[in-house]
Amino acid sequence: MSQAFDVVVIGAGPGGYIAAIRAAQLGFKVACIDEWKNAAGGPAPGGTCTNVGCIPSKALLQSSEHFEHANHHFADHGISTGKVTMDVAKMIGRKDTVVKQNNDGILYLFKKNKVTFFHGRGSFGKAVDGGYEVQVTGAKEETLSGKQVIIATGSNARALPGTPFDEETVLSNDGALRVGAVPKKLVLIGSGVIGLEMGSVWRRLGSDVTILEGLPTFLGAVDEQIAKEAKKAFDKQGLKIELGVKVGDIKTGKKGVSVAYTNAKGEAVTLDADKLIVSIGRVPNTIGLNAEAVGLQLDERGAIVVDADCKTNLPGVWAVGDVVRGPMLAHKAEEEGVAVAERIAGQHGHVNFNTIPWVIYTSPEIAWVGRTEQQLKADGVAYKAGTFPFLANGRARALGDTTGMVKFLADATTDEILGVHIVGPMASELIAEAVVAMEFKASAEDIARICHAHPSLSEATKEAALAVDKRTLNF
Ligand code: FAD
Ligand code: NAI
Repeated sequence: MSQAFDVVVIGAGPGGYIAAIRAAQLGFKVACIDEWKNAAGGPAPGGTCTNVGCIPSKALLQSSEHFEHANHHFADHGISTGKVTMDVAKMIGRKDTVVKQNNDGILYLFKKNKVTFFHGRGSFGKAVDGGYEVQVTGAKEETLSGKQVIIATGSNARALPGTPFDEETVLSNDGALRVGAVPKKLVLIGSGVIGLEMGSVWRRLGSDVTILEGLPTFLGAVDEQIAKEAKKAFDKQGLKIELGVKVGDIKTGKKGVSVAYTNAKGEAVTLDADKLIVSIGRVPNTIGLNAEAVGLQLDERGAIVVDADCKTNLPGVWAVGDVVRGPMLAHKAEEEGVAVAERIAGQHGHVNFNTIPWVIYTSPEIAWVGRTEQQLKADGVAYKAGTFPFLANGRARALGDTTGMVKFLADATTDEILGVHIVGPMASELIAEAVVAMEFKASAEDIARICHAHPSLSEATKEAALAVDKRTLNF
């Protein structure tokens, strides 16, 4: 006998758990299935984001930043500490506590919203009248039926061909977040978001870090001026980033790992290290979903094919988040989850792909929304640019962190904001103003005329908006 639901959600990452909650708020009877296990074998909803992604990486970034400040910046404030040490096990333990608080928070939210949670793997059974059967395989076997099914099964780390993750020496994001001691030498392959964030964590804690990047340009998706400024800061910190490399043989042994590669000059180089983190992107995950049984269409990358509304080729089956096209970001997954639940309810769920912010949580932080200067040029759009450096911002000086700038790009004729790019302190928070402005189709002048608190980093945003019209007040 199957248990009948209006909506069955497979996956409780940010896409799935948020879709489940929103569907329940809209009056549906909702089940959410997730297979992630904590160390004790119990449920750990929250997906990659909560367990081995956004949340634990930010916890380690915070701990390592405190360590870096205590070691290198407290003295500027007149604080002397003596020798500062790092208890890595305690740092990892704190991170695990933060993760558990988030897992428990989601279980609480399911209860509060009357979402029925099933711990196990969800896979498609047969199509039944007006919906689908979904089998749950876990501690308990269950058969559910759902009139509507939302797939939110996320993504997995991409491995280098011939070099599987062993999570001891060759690490994915999972192993990278639970290294037991500071590696003396660390190599990362891929200087994307994970490479830079994880490289920063271990460099701050004392590792000699080298990041090998295949492309000749640094952070190709980021506005060039911003990427250049960020690279300058990373170079100064001692984060070694080699661009335009071709990775060759990787050998692991008792003493660690050796990575052979050809550098941009064509020279053969071999690097020995204690650990290797491979951060070369992620692949959509449909493992165990039994998608073939129901004829669910996947593309050549293994992503579930969806239309602009997240509808799959099967009636009543939707897919959201990392398992479909678009940026692999938690907030994108959440927005799609909400929009799908609302569409199922007959409402007009909406996701604006033009205003999805990106943040890289390094120091300096990098954040942006909208198009880069290079994209505007390629699209043939006439634009005006305005920048303002944190060096001229009073709050940044007081914080002791004046790296970077805010950059505005606005339409040359209408002054509508087309992109905002920030490298510098708290860029992750500052970008929210730009997202709101762009969502409301504001002009640069709108931001320039709004009163911003003094002294605050947000004054740099106002000044960059003023710079579009060449009338900064403090620079
Ligand atoms: P996921 O979070 O991957 O969740 C999918 C869930 O489905 C998992 O719990 C999985 O166990 C479950 N599942 C899969 N198949 C089945 C099945 N058949 N049955 C039952 N359950 C199943 N994004 C940001 O926006 N900001 C960040 O700071 C950020 N930092 C990151 C740091 C790292 C190291 C990594 C790896 C990623 C980071 N991301 C970040 C990306 C973010 O984690 C993902 O975009 C987001 O988790 C995608 O959400 P999702 O719901 O689509 O999938
Ligand atoms: P990424 O796509 O950000 O970067 C991968 C990098 O590896 C690229 O620069 C690419 O050119 C390079 N690369 C690929 N193959 C290579 C090879 N064989 N040799 C050398 N270099 C190679 O992917 P990453 O860092 O693995 O992160 C995956 C995704 O997770 C991100 O795209 C992002 O969506 C998400 N994420 C988001 C974060 C955030 O929002 N702050 C933090 C971490 C991850």
